[in-house]
Amino acid sequence: MNDTIRKSQEAHWSGKFSEHGAAPAGVGSESAVHKELRYSRLCRVFAGSDDFSLLDVGAGVGDFYRYLRERHTALRFDYTGSEITAGYTTLAAERFPEARFLHRDILSEPLDEKYDFVVLSGIFHQPFDTDIVAWETYMHDLLRRSFSMARIGIAFNALSSYAEFQRQGNYHPKLSSLLDFVVSDLSRFFQVDHSIPLFEETIFVFRPEYIGKNFVEPEFQKYLGTGK
Ligand SMILES: C[S@@+](CC[C@H](N)C(=O)[O-])C[C@H]1O[C@@H](n2cnc3c(N)ncnc32)[C@H](O)[C@@H]1O
Repeated sequence: MNDTIRKSQEAHWSGKFSEHGAAPAGVGSESAVHKELRYSRLCRVFAGSDDFSLLDVGAGVGDFYRYLRERHTALRFDYTGSEITAGYTTLAAERFPEARFLHRDILSEPLDEKYDFVVLSGIFHQPFDTDIVAWETYMHDLLRRSFSMARIGIAFNALSSYAEFQRQGNYHPKLSSLLDFVVSDLSRFFQVDHSIPLFEETIFVFRPEYIGKNFVEPEFQKYLGTGK
């Protein structure tokens, strides 16, 4: 099923790319302002880190890389983008030859690599006519795989189930169910940011080991599985 979804996503995004090229509409966004707001939230996952490696799953034409380079000039980061839509990857590599862009699906062709952070932006918003149960499985599989590749944590966004407006073909997972999945399959150490004007939330999930490094006091060890 994931293969069918991947092909349908690739076909859709290739069409958008042929129509709009590198413009925000070419990756399904309303405007550069919308994109920058999303990216500004995603960047909060890096809080406290100024030198790190990063995998951007569904990197599109490399806009998040550009945002990081232009808006966070003090950060040192080693960037890799993975993408299933070939036209995007080719253009991203032409725009930013100093970065690494892979035409690859991390589900069917796993990368034997780890990164400090893995981010996914706009990947789960639009299943179009894909069955919702299958789409949820695709989302969970991608999140599990992404988390398994992250040394510190992941950040992703999803459309809000509290949105007053829901367009057909979009996916608004019930936030409480999504968090149940996060806790049962990834980690109980998460943050949710539902405080931007867009109808979406950003979720950050951290590895217990990372939390343990930040809370070394003996009093906390029993909560982290490292005490007696
Ligand atoms: C709305 S676009 C967002 C692109 C980019 N993150 C951005 O901010 O411009 C969604 C992207 O997810 C990609 N995608 C969907 N499933 C994917 C997968 N399994 N692996 C990598 N990319 C995927 C699509 O090809 C498409 O480029």
